[in-house]
Amino acid sequence: MLQDKDRIFTNIYGTYDKSLKGAMKRGHWSGTKGFIDKGRDWVIAQTKESGLRGRGGAGFPTGLKWSFMPKEVGERPHYLVINADESEPGTCKDRDIMRHDPHTLIEGCLIAGFAMGAHACYIYIRGEYIREREALETAIAECYDANLLGKGNKHGWDYDIYVHHGAGAYICGEETALLESLEGKKGQPRLKPPFPANVGLYGCPTTVNNVESVAVVPTVLRRGPDWFASFGAENNRGTKLFCVSGHVEKPATFEEAMSVPFRELIEKHCGGIRGGWDNLLAVIPGGSSVRCVPADQIIDCPMDFDSLSKLKSGLGTAAVIVMDRSTDIIRAIARLSYFYKHESCGQCTPCREGTGWMWRVMERMVEGRAQKREIDMLLDVTKQIEGHTICALGDAAAWPIQGLITHFRPEIEARIDQYSYRSDKDGAVLEAAE
Ligand SMILES: Cc1cc2nc3c(=O)[nH]c(=O)nc-3n(C[C@H](O)[C@H](O)[C@H](O)COP(=O)(O)O)c2cc1C
Ligand code: SF4
Repeated sequence: MLQDKDRIFTNIYGTYDKSLKGAMKRGHWSGTKGFIDKGRDWVIAQTKESGLRGRGGAGFPTGLKWSFMPKEVGERPHYLVINADESEPGTCKDRDIMRHDPHTLIEGCLIAGFAMGAHACYIYIRGEYIREREALETAIAECYDANLLGKGNKHGWDYDIYVHHGAGAYICGEETALLESLEGKKGQPRLKPPFPANVGLYGCPTTVNNVESVAVVPTVLRRGPDWFASFGAENNRGTKLFCVSGHVEKPATFEEAMSVPFRELIEKHCGGIRGGWDNLLAVIPGGSSVRCVPADQIIDCPMDFDSLSKLKSGLGTAAVIVMDRSTDIIRAIARLSYFYKHESCGQCTPCREGTGWMWRVMERMVEGRAQKREIDMLLDVTKQIEGHTICALGDAAAWPIQGLITHFRPEIEARIDQYSYRSDKDGAVLEAAE
């Protein structure tokens, strides 16, 4: 189990003073000017060396992403944009950083912004996160008062942070839709290329990063990339915030080393599975957008990007949704299908039409009011959507259904059999009454 001395987020439950004074006591904002004095290339090299991969879902290497920004700042200013939209079902880690440990993020914003030559940073925060926004704005104001931010600040790198709140659309968490929304337009994803590092916010070089990805960086620099890389398996380094919900004894958000096996994660932090391990049915390990994994495959699986992708699922945002045997898994996945149908921005035909079509079929599957051949038809439609859309929402809508059909086809067939048996019986009773 990760020891307290190795935790980056030392106030994730809001136990201690979250003000600047409290954060400084816990070691934040210490040596920040020294990192900036070492230069942009040094910060990027250290981040690369640490093996940090993006915590927003896709797991793209953070240092590498920063290096895509133009080396020289030309006529167009550079921007850092923090993705604090956190709307992936099951995900609730960034909110705890912002409301209880906001200085980890703010210090990270300054250092990351400096590394990419940006003097301005926008934090795009989910509209519903009102208390989180208040905490963040208070913490930013403290930094301006202490001359840690702003023009002529004590770090020698002019830097402004603006907090912008969204209006409640899941799609605005997709990085290019987020940029559109930030520019005051309808939140619809852009076609890539061009990528934001070349043409991002207001047509200027921009990097969009998740809250957690940036908030860990100051500690990584203070303790060294080797320290961070000492946790987790090859290519899956560091500590990670997990948020576990569903049928465990104690749902929780906590920091743990990457690659810890699922069983250990649940036993140590969540008090085990409700009703014991034999009662576990399946797990969605990375927020609702990844395929579910049945109990026997996940129990000993290391919780990291590569191990979960070998199971054709993913670590995603590390929002672990646990389902015990009381779950109607067909209904659970149908509910997710409704979510994706509701959140599709409607730009591309496969997603706009396909998400609605899949949801309607899923609703019939829940009742069993379907033909068995429709299971393959549904699977086929998911494959026509996957990879054929502007953004990954199309994939996100397809994968949960693919996981269901791959692992729980007998359950779907049994439901169809039950329905036809019941309608046959009711039909027979009706005929007899006539
Ligand atoms: C539909 C959709 C919703 C997303 N929502 C979020 C989100 O709420 N927060 C987030 O950090 N990334 C979200 N992402 C991923 C972002 O597009 C982007 O990859 C991420 O912010 C990059 O940050 P990272 O490199 O630090 O992980 C979403 C992606 C898609 C396709
Ligand atoms: S995949 Fe869906 S959400 Fe993404 S751009 Fe296309 S229609 Fe919009």
